[in-house]
Amino acid sequence: MPVHLENLKKGSLAQRMLETRGISKVFNSGTPNEVRSLEAVDVTIDQGSWVIVIGTNGSGKSTLLNAIAGTFFVDSGNINLAGREVTRWPEHERAKLIGRVFQNPFSGTAPNMSIAENLAMAARRGQRRGLGWTLRSNSLNEFMIGVARLNMGLEDRLDNFIGSLSGGQRQALTLLMATWLKPKLLLLDEHTAALDPKSARQADDADGDALHAAGGTSGRSLDHDVSRTHHSRFSRRRKTPLARRRFAGAL
Ligand SMILES: Nc1ncnc2c1ncn2[C@@H]1O[C@H](COP(=O)(O)OP(=O)(O)O)[C@@H](O)[C@H]1O
Ligand SMILES: [Mg+2]
Repeated sequence: MPVHLENLKKGSLAQRMLETRGISKVFNSGTPNEVRSLEAVDVTIDQGSWVIVIGTNGSGKSTLLNAIAGTFFVDSGNINLAGREVTRWPEHERAKLIGRVFQNPFSGTAPNMSIAENLAMAARRGQRRGLGWTLRSNSLNEFMIGVARLNMGLEDRLDNFIGSLSGGQRQALTLLMATWLKPKLLLLDEHTAALDPKSARQADDADGDALHAAGGTSGRSLDHDVSRTHHSRFSRRRKTPLARRRFAGAL
């Protein structure tokens, strides 16, 4: 099997936060470029627990996260999130329950807006846009406290454009934004993989505090670095889609 899931905290009595049953996704169906990316995948994640997905390039890790986030609808199966059947919910509706951080430090933030403005957007995620995101001094205080927890000295630079920050700083802020509203589920897709080692360490250090602040959030994280550690287990095997695995709690 090309993909490995590791549940970092067992919680048999905990509330079930995510459950996928038999989800499948085929891209370019019926064409020579057909890709069976997910085949009948079952995933169960309890509240407050962390699951790491490990797999080679192209094994379907991002597809799984996209399916959960609603980037596309699955072809079959169903997805239950925080007690709600969300299989046919559009992505923006699921975003009220899900925080996401992508691999690319440029995709999670708006470069021409300040740190404070980006945080103000994050604080209003899921609400209608409008005049409401005028920066109020009480929000600025909260932003300053949140940003100070990252230990990057950015709390004095709330009016700086995000575009002027390093990749590591941007990813740390993206994580802070993704967890600002305490999502039920946090999806991290190799979020430090594109950073140089020092920036990745910086972002990792910042992660702990942002995640602590988000208390109670359940997570699913992809890490290609970890997959390299396990590469010898998978490299001799045929690349198959994330298929017919049953993931429930710890492996
Ligand atoms: N939107 C898409 N259209 C067509 N093929 C896709 C799409 N997204 C992913 N794929 C294909 O699905 C397979 C799994 O991709 P992906 O989930 O990105 O893998 P991973 O994240 O594990 O590297 C790959 O063969 C990829 O090319
Ligand atoms: Mg991927």
